[in-house]
Amino acid sequence: MTETTLPVASIGRTAGYSRPAIHFAAKDTWLNDPNGLVHHNGIYHVYYQNNPYGNVWGNMSWGHATSSDLAIWVEHPVAIACDATEDIYSGSIVIDQLNTSGLGNPECPPWVAVYTSAFKEGTPHQGTQAQSLAFSLDEGMTWTKFAGNPVLTRGTPHFRDPKVFWHEGTAGSYWVMAVVEAQEQRVLLYRSANLREWEFLSDFGPAHATGGEWECPDLFPLPLDEDPDQVKWIMTVNVNPGAVAGGSGGQYFVGDFDGVSFRQDERRRSAPLQVGSRPVQLRDYDWLDWGRDYYAAVSFSNAPDGRRIMLGWMNNWDYANQTPTSPWRSSMSLAREVALRTIGGRPVLVQKPILPPSDRMQTVYVSTAPLTLDNEPTQLAELPWEGAFVIHAEFRVDRAARVGLVLGVQAPGDAADAQTLISYDVAAGELEVDRRDSGNTEFHDLFPSVESCRLILEDGVLALDIVVDGCSLEVFAQHGQASITDLIFPPAGTPVLTVFAEGGAATLLGLTVRTSFPQQMDATLATR
Ligand code: FRU
Repeated sequence: MTETTLPVASIGRTAGYSRPAIHFAAKDTWLNDPNGLVHHNGIYHVYYQNNPYGNVWGNMSWGHATSSDLAIWVEHPVAIACDATEDIYSGSIVIDQLNTSGLGNPECPPWVAVYTSAFKEGTPHQGTQAQSLAFSLDEGMTWTKFAGNPVLTRGTPHFRDPKVFWHEGTAGSYWVMAVVEAQEQRVLLYRSANLREWEFLSDFGPAHATGGEWECPDLFPLPLDEDPDQVKWIMTVNVNPGAVAGGSGGQYFVGDFDGVSFRQDERRRSAPLQVGSRPVQLRDYDWLDWGRDYYAAVSFSNAPDGRRIMLGWMNNWDYANQTPTSPWRSSMSLAREVALRTIGGRPVLVQKPILPPSDRMQTVYVSTAPLTLDNEPTQLAELPWEGAFVIHAEFRVDRAARVGLVLGVQAPGDAADAQTLISYDVAAGELEVDRRDSGNTEFHDLFPSVESCRLILEDGVLALDIVVDGCSLEVFAQHGQASITDLIFPPAGTPVLTVFAEGGAATLLGLTVRTSFPQQMDATLATR
């Protein structure tokens, strides 16, 4: 094992929980769900649930940010603002190339946002949620609400979060909308020729996790094992509360969509497990992430090269309004490229985090020889405090009962040190993230937690890709077969990385640490 290839900057943090370097957070306001994910001319546009006037949920409007690489973000003025009649809840954007809506013209195809109007008291639609349109004729920078809103109402109070995409299939070509009746745990599918008039097609649900409201659905095709002749459809739907790690989380279903209905494949169920006091069957379902802080994830419908890229909100409604950052609160996850692979005889959604381009990453630590770990924790490196760092580690479990690594922070003076444990329990076949001693966990009694998921190793090798940025941790195991996303709020101090094996020897086959310091760049909005 040799030391660093480049000097490691170890910077004691003095104030505030760090802003993320490669995740999007608004400068000084609140955000939740990603909305209107669209790609155009090499630029990714992310709109998002935003409170332009504060850093707790409220005054819901669509904020707007752009990026060419999904790592460095520019924040723009609010795109669609709440007003006296409505809050602007979640939804999606399509670029209406053929001007089917008539809201633009063939030379200037309109961008059309389909969002949920949450109507306020004292207005004609009070007490209901319905789907509305806004359009932009300047590539997403400014927006006008459609005069004929709402375009789709059921007169019900929890009808929201439309995801619209263009579908070309055997039944014809048209717009499809997936939208939820949140309290009925149902995804409703509609179709339209012009985005203004919608015809009901079918519904899906309740199914699997139904312990809370269903929110922010998505529906998209993916080839199984990269075979274009075996296309499956993925229905994703978020549930709050009642997700696998508690509170908010996203589940997915694999099946087929014929242009009218989504049908879930028959699933082979493993025997139910008893895990703590949690409802056992939750762990038997398919989850986008097994941590506490990955919610409202939706995909870009038009990412380049046929890629399917998802983005989630890194928080949990259990404590989202109390997370201890200021003046901003909450950030997005890293964008994740998803694919469908057969694993253990069934299709599994695998996820690869999209990292900054390599010229924006610097390798600060690389191990060169396998290292035997035998009950003595081995401290490898001090880590930079500022910026994001990305760890790739491979362990062979050999005779160990547990292997893993510790993200520690040595606090100065009498202040308590902190540590977050990422480990694999060999007998249980489970990956675990333990944030109970990760630093400030007291701001909410539901925050201290241990997350876990089942993970099958190949040849006894555990491969982990870990992204730590500001106050978040995203762990991808076995090249994206499972992920655990958790917020952490460590104290000021020196971050150190330690690896360990317990109950027998294991081998660290290799480990690298890379950092990325890109600032969020915005001429008008200073970010740090
Ligand atoms: C999900 C959600 C959506 C809703 C939005 C309101 O986090 O509750 O269902 O549209 O947030 O901000």
